[in-house]
Amino acid sequence: MGISTWVLLASLLFVSVSAATQMNVTKNPADELVAVLNDNRTAHKSPALYDNPGLGCIALQYIKAYQGDCGAVGGPDAKKPADSQFAETFAPNCGVEASTLSPITGRLLGCETKYVHPAQAFSNILIESSKSLEILYNKNHTQVGAAVSGSDGGSPYFWCVLFSSGKTNSSFVAEGGVVKITRPGCFSGANDECSGAYDWSRSSRMWAFFTTALIAMGFACGL
Ligand SMILES: *[C@@H]1O[C@H](CO)[C@@H](O)[C@H](O)[C@H]1NC(C)=O
Ligand SMILES: *[C@@H]1O[C@H](CO)[C@@H](O)[C@H](O)[C@H]1NC(C)=O
Ligand SMILES: *[C@@H]1O[C@H](CO)[C@@H](O)[C@H](O)[C@H]1NC(C)=O
Ligand SMILES: *[C@@H]1O[C@H](CO)[C@@H](O)[C@H](O)[C@H]1NC(C)=O
Repeated sequence: MGISTWVLLASLLFVSVSAATQMNVTKNPADELVAVLNDNRTAHKSPALYDNPGLGCIALQYIKAYQGDCGAVGGPDAKKPADSQFAETFAPNCGVEASTLSPITGRLLGCETKYVHPAQAFSNILIESSKSLEILYNKNHTQVGAAVSGSDGGSPYFWCVLFSSGKTNSSFVAEGGVVKITRPGCFSGANDECSGAYDWSRSSRMWAFFTTALIAMGFACGL
């Protein structure tokens, strides 16, 4: 391989990295889930719901309350975080003012060992019965917040959708107007890029491998 090939490779890499950082279209499975959900509602002649970032962040805290215990999501041992946790833990973790918390009018929650795409999570995990469809089409909802998170960056994956009847511009409002982005996990409405299937240790290993390969290539070319 000649020097020109190396330079070409290096500039291709540079171009693709800078293209990725300039892209401001959100890639976030929680936002995708809300899009699928709203498409389904509008196809059913129900209005689309406002994607409230404060509520989305709270949905992620709601997932964290399960501490990775899939068995507590459904079935005979199903548990639910106490209502008091919304004001005591979830809102402060998100920077949401407790005084702006509004009634939760419905929730959809699911847990799976495998990561699936948001559309599949919607149809196969969250909407598993006519009861879930009733929750989805409830006329009292005005807004929605969704979240997905793995546990310790891996399986199992939790999906959560919370609905609320609050006024869209005065409920789940963050101090200073900006909801705290918490990781791990992704939530909807904040216009941030996020990977639901993410595994930081694996992706940094990938980068290390990639960089090493490039450096080795550089040496092989006598650079
Ligand atoms: C991306 O950013 C540009 C410039 O800030 C803006 O004009 C454009 O509407 C944005 N696109 C999206 C999808 O947000
Ligand atoms: C909404 O989603 C459910 C679950 O995937 C599906 O059964 C139903 O047909 C969808 N409704 C519309 C109107 O697309
Ligand atoms: C909507 O809210 C009202 C008042 O809280 C309640 O009585 C009613 O049952 C709710 N409707 C649905 C479809 O859940
Ligand atoms: C909130 O929405 C109401 C009605 O849509 C509007 O009158 C009001 O000005 C809005 N408030 C803010 C702070 O945007």
